[in-house]
Amino acid sequence: MNAAEVRSTSGRRNTAASVRFEPAVPHQPTAAVVRDAAPVASTDSLAAVAADPTYVSRETPTREEDDPPLAMEAMRAVQILNPSGEVTMPRPDRTRVMCVANQKGGVGKTTTTVNLAVALALHGNRVLVVDLDPQGNASTGLNVPHHTGIPDVYDCLINSVPLAEVAQAVDGIPNLWCVPATIDLAGAEIELVSVVARESRLDRAIAAYPGEFDYVFIDCPPSLGLLTVNALVAAQEVLIPIQCEYYALEGLNQLINNINLVRQHLNPKLDVSTILLTMYDRRTRLADAVEQDVRNHFGDKVLQAVIPRNVRVSEAPSYGQSVMTYDPGSRGATSYFEAAQEIAERGVKEPVGRNA
Ligand SMILES: Nc1ncnc2c1ncn2[C@@H]1O[C@H](COP(=O)(O)OP(=O)(O)O)[C@@H](O)[C@H]1O
Ligand SMILES: [Mg+2]
Repeated sequence: MNAAEVRSTSGRRNTAASVRFEPAVPHQPTAAVVRDAAPVASTDSLAAVAADPTYVSRETPTREEDDPPLAMEAMRAVQILNPSGEVTMPRPDRTRVMCVANQKGGVGKTTTTVNLAVALALHGNRVLVVDLDPQGNASTGLNVPHHTGIPDVYDCLINSVPLAEVAQAVDGIPNLWCVPATIDLAGAEIELVSVVARESRLDRAIAAYPGEFDYVFIDCPPSLGLLTVNALVAAQEVLIPIQCEYYALEGLNQLINNINLVRQHLNPKLDVSTILLTMYDRRTRLADAVEQDVRNHFGDKVLQAVIPRNVRVSEAPSYGQSVMTYDPGSRGATSYFEAAQEIAERGVKEPVGRNA
């Protein structure tokens, strides 16, 4: 039996109340593709999947399998690139500062930041991206220079340089700016310890920005240190990307605890407003189970749009582009467009932030 024969038949997104697991099929997969039954931090359903000998982890699907037919692709591309400027996403009444956080690395924080920011900017919103990860991946993804010597977010946090002096306009995307991160930021975590009002440096810098933005996205590093605390203090909303994988929910409690602490002591307006499921592989039952668990736990905070695992999304940064511009007809671009639209619509329907 090959891998294709043990595929889930449940479709891309199972929104039924419970996830049904098919009975185990006799199967001899190779050790390389079977997950070990690891200690379970999340729910029983995930454990059931992990213990299932038929569960096979899969590689990124090929383009042929993953992308829509050509005519539809072209239609979506026009809608996403929006060359006429006709398609707009509603603008919020006031700036929404969204912190994209999850202390796990590789869950799609940067990809989400970059693509949502580009999608909103292409549809009539003024957007600022603050790269708060010393790796500078968001700066790379937006093709913003961030080598040593470039004024960056470190200068704002440590030397009180105004954000407006370091923000760069993103080439080719009107209404989008980026405050880059250089490798200097790696030292900030330690240097901040002795700085006055160390937790609210970014909050003050954003408040002092003279430009009027509809959205400020802060791309956090994969840790819960002072940089992430600065982001949580500056934001009204937290957007948590969750990867549809087995360990996805591990560590989430720790993140939520930290958010609660920041809310109690430093920023009463902070709200986990948005959960986005990323890297969804529709061919695994595991992805369905993760989606169900996350929806059961977080309810309507979870966006209906789910980001599939899509090779075009992972290729885009190496061209200094978002997937929105690199391959606007791809499923990755379409899904991020839908996620951005949902976020924009929620922003005008519901008050943002606890005290709003
Ligand atoms: N939907 C997706 N499909 C395929 N690859 C993805 C997807 N989202 C992210 N990736 C890839 O996964 C890796 C980790 O994503 P990234 O956004 O950098 O995570 P984080 O910022 O949380 O560390 C990157 O190489 C990125 O290109
Ligand atoms: Mg990142």
